[in-house]
Amino acid sequence: MHNDVKEILITEEQIKAKTKELGAIITEYYKGKDLVVIGILKGCVVFLSDLVREINLPLTMDFMVVSSYGHSTKSSGVVRIIKDLERDIQGKDVLIIEDIVDSGLTLSYLMEYLKSRNASSVKVCSLLDKPERRKAEVEIEFKGFQIPDEFVIGYGLDYAEVYRNLPYVGILKPEVYTE
Ligand code: IMP
Ligand code: MG
Repeated sequence: MHNDVKEILITEEQIKAKTKELGAIITEYYKGKDLVVIGILKGCVVFLSDLVREINLPLTMDFMVVSSYGHSTKSSGVVRIIKDLERDIQGKDVLIIEDIVDSGLTLSYLMEYLKSRNASSVKVCSLLDKPERRKAEVEIEFKGFQIPDEFVIGYGLDYAEVYRNLPYVGILKPEVYTE
């Protein structure tokens, strides 16, 4: 275990099993649909790359970059699009892939934005759900794990851009971000 990790919350094995399970559910759900998987960079990369290999359907991928925390551990509530989609999503069935839904502010904004671009449907798949600090109502159709109000890192999640490559989800030691 990494020295800055207080506790492993979700193990590599648990993530692997859950990703398989979600992939099968998503495959069933989008059968015969025109699926576009949209990853929200950079937190999605590890989860997305494992998940799409469990989805047994033709699909396309696109990516967006939106501003989130910077170097703080609390959401500012301000959402800014830094990189937009490359392809039109009109009439497509969009599945947004997220690492975590915390305040929900990023997602609620993104869902409205994607609907306004005339997607046929817009749903969310998030590895983690941290409901205690929710400020905006968002429906997470495909959910991995519900977690308590702790700042977590690993499997795509960062603190100040570090720790994304840890193969598990762990709680960051508070002294790492308070010192
Ligand atoms: P929200 O808008 O507050 O729902 O969260 C937006 C983004 O904040 C997520 O996509 C993550 O990149 C980041 N975030 C929220 N909670 C955590 C956490 O516990 N660890 C690392 N990043 C987080
Ligand atoms: Mg982040």
